[in-house]
Amino acid sequence: MAIIHVDGKQYEVDPADNLLQACLSRGLDLPYFCWHPALGSVGACRQCAVKIYRDENDKVGRLVMACMTPAADNTRMSIGDAESKEFREGIISLMMTNHPHDCPVCEEGGHCHLQDMTVMTGHYRRQYHFTKRTHLNQDLGPFIAHEMNRCIACYRCVRFYNDYAGGTDFGAFGSAANVYFGRVQGGTLQNYFSGNLTEVCPTGVFTDKTHSERYARKWDMQFAPSICAGCAVGCNISPGERYGEVRRIENRYHGELNGYFLCDRGRFGYGYVNRKDRPRKPLAKQTDGFATVDNASAITRIRQLLTSGKAVIGVGSARASVEANFELRELVGAAAFSNGMTRGETELCRAVLDVLREGSVEAATIRAIDEADAVFVLGEDVLATAPRVALALRQAARGKWFDMTREKKVPDWQAESAADIGQHEFNPLFVATPAPTGFDDVAKKTFRLAPDAIAQLGFAVAHALDASAPPATFAPGDAVETIAHALRAAKRPLIVSGTGAGSVDVIRAAANVAYALRKANPAVRISLAVPEANSLAMALFDARPLEDALVPIERADAVVVVLENDLERRLPKPDFERLLERTKLIVLDHQMTPTAARADVVLPAASFAEATGTLVNMEGRAQRYFQNFDPAYYDRSIATLESWRWLCRIRGGDAEHENLDDVLADVETTLPQFKGIVHAAPGASFRMHGMGLARAPHRQSGRTAARAIVFVHEPKSTVDDDTALNFSMEGYNGAGRDDRPPELLPFAWAPGWNSPQAWNKFQTEVGGALRGGDPGVHLLAPAGRAGYFSPTAPRRGDDLRPIPLHEHFGSEELSNLAEPVRARMPAPYVVLNSDAARGLGIGDVARVSIDGIDVHLAVRSRADFPRDCVGLPVGLVGVPFGSTSRCTVAAARATEGG
Ligand code: SF4
Ligand code: SF4
Ligand code: FES
Repeated sequence: MAIIHVDGKQYEVDPADNLLQACLSRGLDLPYFCWHPALGSVGACRQCAVKIYRDENDKVGRLVMACMTPAADNTRMSIGDAESKEFREGIISLMMTNHPHDCPVCEEGGHCHLQDMTVMTGHYRRQYHFTKRTHLNQDLGPFIAHEMNRCIACYRCVRFYNDYAGGTDFGAFGSAANVYFGRVQGGTLQNYFSGNLTEVCPTGVFTDKTHSERYARKWDMQFAPSICAGCAVGCNISPGERYGEVRRIENRYHGELNGYFLCDRGRFGYGYVNRKDRPRKPLAKQTDGFATVDNASAITRIRQLLTSGKAVIGVGSARASVEANFELRELVGAAAFSNGMTRGETELCRAVLDVLREGSVEAATIRAIDEADAVFVLGEDVLATAPRVALALRQAARGKWFDMTREKKVPDWQAESAADIGQHEFNPLFVATPAPTGFDDVAKKTFRLAPDAIAQLGFAVAHALDASAPPATFAPGDAVETIAHALRAAKRPLIVSGTGAGSVDVIRAAANVAYALRKANPAVRISLAVPEANSLAMALFDARPLEDALVPIERADAVVVVLENDLERRLPKPDFERLLERTKLIVLDHQMTPTAARADVVLPAASFAEATGTLVNMEGRAQRYFQNFDPAYYDRSIATLESWRWLCRIRGGDAEHENLDDVLADVETTLPQFKGIVHAAPGASFRMHGMGLARAPHRQSGRTAARAIVFVHEPKSTVDDDTALNFSMEGYNGAGRDDRPPELLPFAWAPGWNSPQAWNKFQTEVGGALRGGDPGVHLLAPAGRAGYFSPTAPRRGDDLRPIPLHEHFGSEELSNLAEPVRARMPAPYVVLNSDAARGLGIGDVARVSIDGIDVHLAVRSRADFPRDCVGLPVGLVGVPFGSTSRCTVAAARATEGG
């Protein structure tokens, strides 16, 4: 540690930091723009000027940029001396020369870093009274609005988008006082992390277009600590609500997971919460459609069905909370409860669970992925299945730059020096997937292989690393030694795989590589993606797959209770129709899915924004998401309840009075594999200074008039019996002490810090862990009991094998219901090897038959796509279910398709 002296006070700091980081980490306020904890320093804005002194006798000192000066031991500096204050105020004044001062109409207003820094520097008066330079703005697509006149030329956007996220369609153009940040021509930003520009840009150049449509100031929204359900990474998010609608999603800092960044699916895919076609009241089927019924009648009807003497089956869901699935299991009994996944999905998720629980290698956090120095990806396009992992893989590859800078005694935070030194050098990343990925550009080598061949490559690499690991069943070529050598030489090797390739063998091969490395290097980590936000929890339930649970229906009529699951996405169409013929269907969901539309009774379930519950992410971390708002506060006719609460009420008796803490305690008692889940966040009785915690900013203006559009009388805020949070600005809000448990932080705010930069105030050190520990409880620890897996024989035969391909936009069920995401989905397609397509006489359109259903799909033919495979996009509208079923492909006749 180093000691620095700031304005006469002594602070212990990390000497590897620069002075700006060091001051912020010690809680001192110092303005800055171009520095960002994840992007480092470039010294572009000159806003962080401080005085440093040679020794205690030096009374003159000299101005330096704090972000460009190491926090060397015994540094003497001043933030508050008159000359540095005047310099910083002058810098803001210069930055404001062309700034339009349009805060009242700027959507950044109220959570703007430029506003905060302007106030912090004491720049109160506009000094430039002449004509301002103006720019034309660009249409950047459905997510991001562009207002270039607000730019202060800090270069953060281009450093994030191009350098950090690997974007290629964005840049800085022009020179001197006329620099433009945008695309060569207007058009949709292509990078899947573009939404982070809205938080990275310290002013209102890039704002969230999905928010613009229904805009509310930060202080007028209500927030909750929440978890993204867009995939199983479990990024922490801060949804903002106004008038019973989610208005935007921002990043909620988590030191081990998302850090400062979300993917676009997670940020912009929330629109399904606000859909007008959601079921909002219980619905009972009539001869001519649905009739709305009250809650009590719906429950009575369901109880009648459940006691009608027919077999009762419960179908759970990997997108529903642990609590909801548990209550369904309690309702129907363990034997009749299905995990809601197909047999194939179940096998894949169990294979992942097996590796994480019985194996010898720890699951990687996103931070660990960032820091890996050699990576082998087997079969998983994580940019689609676990997008935040893909962003971390890019940082792992770039990590080489920082190793090189360290060798030259240049500190990590010198971002431009690192880029200059590193140039095109990357840590070794090997990517074996059937189709190209969005991170191939930083790969040392890519392999386009069928899943079987990927597994064989993995088994061969494991055998090359440790001769006691079983060899592959065929010789996979000379790449094996290259990969093995790079992984062996690494200090922090990482293996990435998952369920995306649809092959248990691929997961096992990945595990073998990790196990083989573990023998010599305990720092190895494994990252295994699973299909949905709560898939790993469903594997932990150890319940039957969908097909097995539905077997009784073959013999007799049954009652099926479906929890937040669209069976049409899982069962082949004929099976789905057969099921409907023989069942009474009770569906709990927050969307009118094709399954809900065919139900006898629909119960309107709360979405993530209206519910509190727990998800288990792909590392086995249980995380609690909290209810953002009570939808009935603005519309008393809305009858949505959390699925777990509906199910408690159906069970009746004492169960009706359960709250979340009771449900969680029951989960732990009944299913010991979930032990620890109650500690994912403080319970309902938690209080700070005798108070519950506020969900809304304490500056929330006009709160007492907020409901005046409904009725002039303001009703009491809804009481939240399930959590320690209040639906209100009232309650403990940290009062500038930032001492709330990180699990209960709804949004970033600290006195003087209204923008997302306020997360600095909640961290042990900038960019580090949250004070009190990063949220979540690990339910899995590798027991070290598993040995090596043996490869299975490769598939024989000439028939084309359908393999799943995944899309960032289009494969995930719920974000597909958000209009801006729909605008980014690709049209349905099929991928074939070019030679194979030619051999079959297939041109631009193919006739694809999946379980007897024929569709015409545009053909993407690729020379490097495995010859014996047909690539079918998962979940894409227009592509039927059946990626694991038999599938045939033929040329479309001249009169067909097109
Ligand atoms: S657009 Fe924003 S992030 Fe980019 S240089 Fe301008 S102010 Fe900085
Ligand atoms: S990576 Fe997954 S969890 Fe994170 S923001 Fe994207 S979709 Fe959500
Ligand atoms: S933050 Fe230091 S120069 Fe910009």
